Amino acid sequence: MIPQDLYQAATNMLTRAYAPYSHFPVGAALLDANGQIYTGCNIENAAYGATNCAERTALFTAIAAGQRDFAALLITGKTKDVIWPCGTCRQVISEFCSPQMPVYLTNQNNQVQKITVAQLLPGAFSAEDLNYER
Ligand code: THU
Repeated sequence: MIPQDLYQAATNMLTRAYAPYSHFPVGAALLDANGQIYTGCNIENAAYGATNCAERTALFTAIAAGQRDFAALLITGKTKDVIWPCGTCRQVISEFCSPQMPVYLTNQNNQVQKITVAQLLPGAFSAEDLNYER
């Protein structure tokens, strides 16, 4: 059920998280269409609003590396229940990932919930709404 390689990669990122303010580490692992995994952690800032979430770190790392075609995303945190992405990350995920793409919400306590990008952000604002081609 859970892709173990993605889970391990995201879990490893919990140790890389820079979260001195919230003490809430988050890890993400993004699988591309070629089977390569891009990872991310949350990176906070003394000016709190400058914080970057784990999901966006993974996505931006992949985009900057030239990847645009993604197959799955897994998120993990040391949460009691599975972790859900924030609203900003849902919007960014919907920009780059297909509505059908699976997203695995997990924690460090063997809980997993598999959903899709469309379920994360129904009716997402998109390039189509702007009449722009990507
Ligand atoms: N955070 C993430 O990295 N991803 C999420 O899905 C939820 C929130 C981070 C942002 C901040 O560093 C900390 O968790 C607390 O909000």
